[in-house]
Amino acid sequence: MTTRATAPVTPSEAAALDRARALALNGRGRVSPNPLVGAVVLRDGVTVAEGWHEGPGLPHAEAMALAAAGDAARGATVICTLEPCSHHGRTPPCAHALVDAGVARVVVGLADPLERERAGGVAVLREAGVEVVLAEGAARHACAELVSPFLTAALTGRPEVTLKLATSLDGRIATATGESRWISGPASRALVHRWRADADAVAVGLGTALADDPRLTARDVDGPVRPPARVVFDTTARLPLDAALVRDAADGPPVIVLAGEAAPADRVAALRERGVEVEVLPGDAPARLDAGLRALGARGVQSLFVEGGAVLAGALVAAGAVDRVAWFLAPMLIGGDGAPSALAGEGVRELSAAPRLIDTRTEDVGGDVLVTGRLRPLPGGG
Ligand SMILES: NC(=O)c1ccc[n+]([C@@H]2O[C@H](COP(=O)([O-])OP(=O)(O)OC[C@H]3O[C@@H](n4cnc5c(N)ncnc54)[C@H](OP(=O)(O)O)[C@@H]3O)[C@@H](O)[C@H]2O)c1
Repeated sequence: MTTRATAPVTPSEAAALDRARALALNGRGRVSPNPLVGAVVLRDGVTVAEGWHEGPGLPHAEAMALAAAGDAARGATVICTLEPCSHHGRTPPCAHALVDAGVARVVVGLADPLERERAGGVAVLREAGVEVVLAEGAARHACAELVSPFLTAALTGRPEVTLKLATSLDGRIATATGESRWISGPASRALVHRWRADADAVAVGLGTALADDPRLTARDVDGPVRPPARVVFDTTARLPLDAALVRDAADGPPVIVLAGEAAPADRVAALRERGVEVEVLPGDAPARLDAGLRALGARGVQSLFVEGGAVLAGALVAAGAVDRVAWFLAPMLIGGDGAPSALAGEGVRELSAAPRLIDTRTEDVGGDVLVTGRLRPLPGGG
């Protein structure tokens, strides 16, 4: 192990880490079950090569950047958004590749908690005399955001759950007559399609499937997209056979119904005949919710984008199952005692028990106010 002092991240390295994050995002909607990772090779503060991970089975970001750098990697600094791997997966370990390439220094955006179980990429590099510096503060946090679905799934066995809702300023998701299209504006809805494309699966409750007959596909999104699976929480397998989701279940992206043991066998069979995958989950409602998320995790779903409605959203929040929130507040007032509010169920009785968002951001999206934040801290201690 080297004992020499490690120089802190320089301004050119910090800028390269920003660039590496942007490169990592090229893999959006494609890399799962692998993480989004980007890498930049610097010589004397100048970029000589870049790489990002493009998908399962393909070279890791560091390997791409090293290949692009060639001999220029010797003595260079490599910036990685995530700690280089130290284990043989489908591709050789990146930490060893960096050592073999003769790299002098590595800047790591986020130490990978999964590497703690292994030799550890940072440890391998340091053992070989490569100087390693770990990013801190906002840079580290941003790198943790890149890999939160990957780490959540690896550490908990269930997907990272993002709850997206659109409400009027007075917190209603529909009118008293059930009309909800559209509360948010076109720019917000376009963003939702981008987010659907980024997710491994998109989910709604049966009430929304019945009321809106959605397709839950990612439409009009730039770049290559692996279509997300579509999930309906539907205890008794009541999803109609002529629903849009069922009609293209066999030919479109997978449709998964999360049902309970009370689901009649003929309903389950009819859905399966049409290409719908039905998971029959044991237990009461909270147990089924947990089992449903775990079943999705076992299928490789690392990111679940939940689009309501109020009953499912309320159940997920009450169960503490929501990791991220994306909330559009449209500048309109619906009002009326019969108009549903965003979260059904009992809610909290005391303000001190109300779940509070952390890492909150607010922005204007075409006149709607978008509030994003987390209900659980980023995995990896970002
Ligand atoms: N503005 C928005 O962002 C937005 C978004 C979505 C929907 N909406 C509107 O909201 C309305 C529908 O919402 P909704 O609240 O009636 O229905 P919902 O939340 O979409 O679906 C609720 C149903 O899901 C089923 N379910 C299965 N497992 C569940 C679980 N573990 N927890 C909770 N529910 C589970 C339950 O029916 P079973 O027990 O029979 O399975 C439950 O009645 C529509 O008017 C729709 O247009 C608005």
